Amino acid sequence: MPMSETMEPKILITEAKLQARLTELANEISRDFAGKEITAVCVLKGSFIFFSDMIRKLDLPIACEFLGVSSYGNKMVSSGELKITLDMNEPLENKHVIVFEDIVDSGLTLSYIMSTLKARKPATLKSCTLLFKPDSLKVPVEVDYHGFKIGNEFVVGYGLDHAGKFRGLRHIGVIEHGH
Ligand code: PRP
Repeated sequence: MPMSETMEPKILITEAKLQARLTELANEISRDFAGKEITAVCVLKGSFIFFSDMIRKLDLPIACEFLGVSSYGNKMVSSGELKITLDMNEPLENKHVIVFEDIVDSGLTLSYIMSTLKARKPATLKSCTLLFKPDSLKVPVEVDYHGFKIGNEFVVGYGLDHAGKFRGLRHIGVIEHGH
């Protein structure tokens, strides 16, 4: 069995630290959007756990929408061209929309999502990412709310995968380079 299959990711952000920061973030968003109903957009797949925790912490009326986005082929070597693989059923016109992402790395995914959704004329369009890698950005992107800034680590857990594994971890872990 290759080493990678026996390696457990090291803990980068504990469950307690993660949940405490989510509460802060949810309080901040609830204050900013007080008195409004929001449309919360979950970007599949990686964001589903972050999204489900956040919508339960937000003190706002919320409509939930789900968006599938994927790159053509291997994102690491491609031009970063993306496509919508699952679209929402509801129009966004005049809605207060917050896009929830698990991670902003190159920024290509969020940038594509924001420009695509902006064309649908929402009243407000904001982004909220759990993890933000500011040093990895390849395109300028608007990150309105973020949980944690991190470095160039390969992170897994809490929705994020490595080859389909580790999404169910309750914390954020790091896989060593080379595995
Ligand atoms: C991950 C993550 C973000 C995107 C961030 O998705 O969920 O959507 O990459 O990277 P970027 O800033 O470089 O575009 P992934 O393509 O791994 O799909 P998944 O969420 O379905 O696992």
